Amino acid sequence: MKVCCIGAGYVGGPTCAVMALKCPDITITLVDKSAERIAQWNSEKLPIYEPGLDEVVKKCRNVNLFFSTDINTAIKEADLIFISVNTPTKTCGSGKGRAADLKYVESAARMIAEIAQSNKIVVEKSTVPVRAAESIMHILRANQKPGIHYDILSNPEFLAEGTAINDLLNADRVLIGGEETPEGHQAVEKLSWIYEHWIPKKNILTTNTWSSELSKLAANAFLAQRISSINSLSAVCEATGADVSEVARAVGLDSRIGSKFLQASVGFGGSCFQKDILNLIYICENLNLPEVAAYWQQVIDMNDYQKRRFSQKIIESLFNTVSDKRIAILGFAFKKNTGDTRETAAITVCQTLLEEGAKLDIYDPKVEPEQIIDDLTHPSVTESPENVKKAVQIHSDPYSAVRATHALVLCTEWDEFVDLDYKRIYQSMMKPAYIFDGRKILDHERLQQIGFHVQTIGKKYQRAGLLRSWGIVPQL
Ligand code: UDX
Ligand code: UDX
Ligand code: ADP
Repeated sequence: MKVCCIGAGYVGGPTCAVMALKCPDITITLVDKSAERIAQWNSEKLPIYEPGLDEVVKKCRNVNLFFSTDINTAIKEADLIFISVNTPTKTCGSGKGRAADLKYVESAARMIAEIAQSNKIVVEKSTVPVRAAESIMHILRANQKPGIHYDILSNPEFLAEGTAINDLLNADRVLIGGEETPEGHQAVEKLSWIYEHWIPKKNILTTNTWSSELSKLAANAFLAQRISSINSLSAVCEATGADVSEVARAVGLDSRIGSKFLQASVGFGGSCFQKDILNLIYICENLNLPEVAAYWQQVIDMNDYQKRRFSQKIIESLFNTVSDKRIAILGFAFKKNTGDTRETAAITVCQTLLEEGAKLDIYDPKVEPEQIIDDLTHPSVTESPENVKKAVQIHSDPYSAVRATHALVLCTEWDEFVDLDYKRIYQSMMKPAYIFDGRKILDHERLQQIGFHVQTIGKKYQRAGLLRSWGIVPQL
C-alpha cells in the first residue's frame, strides 16, 4: 500500500513517522508546499522539536518514509491520502476570529481532484469543523473524472505536542469516521488495517463522519474546560486560604472526575484548544444554539481572565509599576518539551508587561529567538514593533536572562527550571527579588528561605512575605 500525507507539520510529521516505523510494508510520502520545510525534514535538524522524533525519522527516512515537494507524483501514486494541512482561525470575512479557515484543506482537495488518476481514500486529519469531510467530498465529487471513485474518511488526531511519539505509539483510541455505505465501510477497514499494525483493534472506534469530527472538537473542549475550571478555582484559592493543588488533588481522587488535566496554570495555549472551542462556538451559533455557544465561550473567557490576572499580579506586586524595570521571562513555549509558541500564555504576559514599559529578558530552551521576536512584534500584539525590539533581549542561558532583573516570571514548566541554582539567581537579581511561578513547579518554601518574594497561581503567600518584611521569617 502507498500512503501520501499532505502537510508536513506538527500533526503530519510525527504521525507519518510513527506509521512508517510500525508499518514496514507501507510506503509513506509526506509532502508539503513549503520547500524549506521539506528540506528541514530531510536534514539533520528537523523543523519541529518533539522528544523521540529524531530517532524514528532517522530509522525510517528513505527506507519507507519519504519527504518531498513533488505533491503531484505522491498523490498520483497513493492509494490513501491524509490531509493534515493547517486550519487556522479565520482572520477576515464572515466568521472572522471564530470559524476555521478551510482554504488550505480546500486547496489540498482541489489538488487531489485535479491530479488523481485512480481511486483514492482521502482521510481528513486536520482538526476541522463538523461537516468539513462533506465539503471535501463535494469538491472531489464535483471534479470527479470518469472511473475514479473517492472515499472520504475523518480520522482526527489526538496527539499532544511534547508527547506526540508516545501518544501515537500508545494511543488511547483511534477514531475513524466514514460514510454508512458498503464502500464507506470498506474504506474504514483499509485505514483500520494500517492502525492495527500496532493499535489493538478494540481501541479503534468507528463512527459516522459527523460524530468523528464532533468528537475531536468535544475532546479538546472538555480538556480545556477542565483547565479553565481549575483556574477559576485558583482565583478563589488566592482570595481565601485554600491551596489549589490541594483542591485539585482532593477533587481528582474521585474516580468519576480523575486527576489528569487539573494543573492550574497561567492559562492554556497551543494551536488546538482555543481554535477548536471557537469553532464549536461558531457551529453552535450557526445552528441557532446560543446557550450552548455561550457555555463554551466561558472556557475561553476564563482562560483570558487567567492570563490577564497573572500579568496584573506581577505589576501590582512590583509596586504597581514595571516601567523601565528588567523582568526575566523563563519559558516561552506553550508547554514544556516543544518549541511551539502558538497561543502561548507567555505572549499575553510579555505583551502586558511591555505595554507597561518593562524591559524583558527572555529565555526558552527550545524556542528559536526569531520566533519570540515574531510573536511579540505581531500586529495583534503591538503597534510599535521597533519599541518591542528595543525592549526585548533573548538569552541562550537562564542565568544571563535573570541577571540584574527585578523579577523572574516562569511561564513554561520546563524541567530544567526546577533544578536551577536559585541562590545564585537571587544573588544576581535586584532586591527585593520576586518570583512569579505561573506553573507551580518550584519549591516555594525554599525560595522564600533564600529571600525571594514568591507569588504563584492558586495559593496566597502574602503572609509569609509580610512576616519576612517584619523580620519574623529569617532569610538564609
Ligand atoms: C452527588 C455526588 O455524586 C455525591 O458525590 C455528593 O456527595 C452528593 O451529590 P447525588 O446527587 O446523590 O450525589 O447523585 P449523582 O449520582 O451525583 O447524580 C446527580 C444527578 O445527576 C442525578 O439527577 C443524575 O441523574 C444526574 N446525572 C448523573 C446525569 O444526568 N448524568 C450523569 O452522567 C450522571
Ligand atoms: C491538545 C490535546 O491534548 C490533544 O489531544 C490534541 O490532539 C491537541 O490539543 P496540545 O495542545 O499539544 O494537545 O497540549 P496539551 O498537553 O493538551 O496542553 C495544552 C495547554 O494546556 C498547554 O498550554 C498546557 O500547559 C496547558 N495545561 C495542560 C494546563 O495548563 N494544565 C493542565 O493540567 C494541562
Ligand atoms: P498542524 O499543527 O495542524 O500540523 P502546521 O502548520 O504545523 O499545522 O502544518 C501544516 C503544514 O501544511 C504546513 O507545513 C503547510 O506548509 C502545509 N500545507 C498547507 N496547505 C498545503 C497544501 N495545499 N499543499 C501542501 N502542503 C500544505
